[in-house]
Amino acid sequence: MSFKHISVLLDETIQGLQLKEGMVAVDCTVGLGGHTEHLLQQVGTTGKVIGIDQDMNALNIARSRLAVDVDSGRFKPVQGRFSEFERIAKECGVFGKINGVLADIGVSSMQLDAPERGFSFMSDGPLDMRMDQSTGQTAANVVNTLSDAELAKIFWQYGEEPKSRMIAAKIVKARDEKPFSRTGEFAEFVKRELRYPKPSKKHPATKIFQALRIHVNAELEELKALLLSAFEGLAPGGRLAVISFHSLEDRIIKHAMQALTAQHLQQAIPRDLPVTSIQMNQIVGAKGVIVKPFPMGPSEKELSENPRSRSAKLRVIEKL
Ligand SMILES: C[S@@+](CC[C@H](N)C(=O)[O-])C[C@H]1O[C@@H](n2cnc3c(N)ncnc32)[C@H](O)[C@@H]1O
Repeated sequence: MSFKHISVLLDETIQGLQLKEGMVAVDCTVGLGGHTEHLLQQVGTTGKVIGIDQDMNALNIARSRLAVDVDSGRFKPVQGRFSEFERIAKECGVFGKINGVLADIGVSSMQLDAPERGFSFMSDGPLDMRMDQSTGQTAANVVNTLSDAELAKIFWQYGEEPKSRMIAAKIVKARDEKPFSRTGEFAEFVKRELRYPKPSKKHPATKIFQALRIHVNAELEELKALLLSAFEGLAPGGRLAVISFHSLEDRIIKHAMQALTAQHLQQAIPRDLPVTSIQMNQIVGAKGVIVKPFPMGPSEKELSENPRSRSAKLRVIEKL
């Protein structure tokens, strides 16, 4: 079995989390276990990492890769969703005691590159797109059953596709004759009907596929639920690090972190007040501090080694 996934922003994440020997960490997006392996190194032989992923295939690969740590009890893989974070952390007895949480959100290369998972317009497969294949609606269900207004909303909100209404109407008309079932035919249909005149580096169906994936996996709702419960689950001084890949996600992360650090109140207070930053945090009722004012992105070296890291952004918050 080969493991092609390259973990993004690895050094920055490890540095941002500042885990030490004996600490407890939760990796909410185990994938193939790339980041997890490094978190395990940081917490040492006396520490522990709980690893969550909703994709059972990925979790099984990580479980066998890190079998030694599973056997020693240092690594506990758990299948579940972001929205189940609180329940999982409580069942593991760590809620409120966690020193570091990592979420490297989105799909993994393994999911994207496997035609049978149905995420890719580059290769033909069933139009599925579920990260957890044991439950929920497939992308085919979505495109074959939702109204044109509902589809247009998804394409616009999650894909920012300018021709969202037009393509939704075409889909609804075409599916009456033959429902969509394969990524290949759906991508070709979208490409043909969108009729973008200028050739572009991106496949014309990119935005539609992104939007469907976000909807099928309720990605933004899941992210919002995670940000609140993961922060609650930290011990004082614990850190939450989140890596995202597009602006819809990064905006949610930025706003959640700003709310937890009461940034709107901090900005309203005159800068020359004779108070320390600790006093300031108490005055405004901040629950956390943002570790770096701007999100961290990939270095030139990482970009050249892994072009998929191009849009990755890392934000870190520390609980007070
Ligand atoms: C980018 S990959 C993580 C890669 C991993 N950090 C590594 O180094 O191998 C994201 C993973 O998060 C999982 N995931 C995404 N959304 C999730 C959610 N709401 N709940 C649980 N897992 C989720 C996906 O199934 C996928 O395996």
